[in-house]
Amino acid sequence: MDMSAPKNFWYVAAFSDDIGHEIVARTILNQPLVMFRASDGKVAALEDRCPHRAVPLSLGRLVGDAVRCTYHGMQIGPDGSCVHIPCQDRIPAAAHARVFPIVEQYKMVWIWMGEPALADPAKVPDFHWMDDPEWATCTGYHYIKANYQLLNDNLLDLSHESYVHDDTIGNDAVAQAPVSSVVKDGTVRVSREILDCEPPPFYVKATGFTTNIDRWHTTVFLPPSFNVIENGSFPHGHTRSEALERRVMNLVTPETDVTSHYFWGIARAYQRDDEALTTYIREQIYRTFNQDKVVLEAQQRNLGPDSPSPFPVALRTDAGPIQARKLIDELLRNERKTAA
Ligand code: FES
Ligand SMILES: [Fe+2]
Repeated sequence: MDMSAPKNFWYVAAFSDDIGHEIVARTILNQPLVMFRASDGKVAALEDRCPHRAVPLSLGRLVGDAVRCTYHGMQIGPDGSCVHIPCQDRIPAAAHARVFPIVEQYKMVWIWMGEPALADPAKVPDFHWMDDPEWATCTGYHYIKANYQLLNDNLLDLSHESYVHDDTIGNDAVAQAPVSSVVKDGTVRVSREILDCEPPPFYVKATGFTTNIDRWHTTVFLPPSFNVIENGSFPHGHTRSEALERRVMNLVTPETDVTSHYFWGIARAYQRDDEALTTYIREQIYRTFNQDKVVLEAQQRNLGPDSPSPFPVALRTDAGPIQARKLIDELLRNERKTAA
């Protein structure tokens, strides 16, 4: 099935820590894959289909650096070539599994599902906050039964914090604050400044500010499915130079047209050695994103497999999500044109 996501991009396949010398099966852009780390430390990603009789390779096991198919024992190496057949020396030319380019950066494994010749490692989007010593970072993963564009919509319209997350990061002040959005250099930036507001529960614990705060968030959307939220707060009446800053990294990888892998990280530029604070932030964000998961999955169930785009009702706060969808539509059109 063709997919409504552009292919010629690096997507996150996994956190680096989650791929060792064992088989991991995962579907990305409707393509079932088998991944493992070979003894040279490099991650291999192969189509999850034995070239012999199409049995999923992920049902097999690793023998050295090759996957041994569970059915008739053919062994496929990290480059997709067949390296062993139990009772014959001759290896048929077609005994080859498709492989996908992989790059590891920012403690993540990135995969290229499109045209291999275009897989330039320099195109991996900047997520240095994941492993920059200037930031303390915690990470997590959610499996979301919803299309990746519903996640983009969600992250580009944070007014939902007031209703979905009123026990963690939101309160009424968020939805009431004016919002602006700008398209620039193929990205969308949606900004909100919330002045002189009561700090929501997460803000009190994560910053120690108990009196009213000024807070801001800018969601920077990088097509097709990356959103970095620049976020900070300081006690109202003080100056921005006293702000405590965070980056909320949202990296979404479409699994199918109606399911997504949601990798995330929260980086903070303060109290970096405070392990208890890191644990608190991870737990609270996990809980917060579970709240998104409930809403997004219910939304997808109502929509069924075909989401309307654009949606018939547009509010002022939809400007950012609509601009992001336009950028994606353009990328899809260009890819189709090139393919034709
Ligand atoms: S199906 Fe894999 S070896 Fe036969
Ligand atoms: Fe949310």
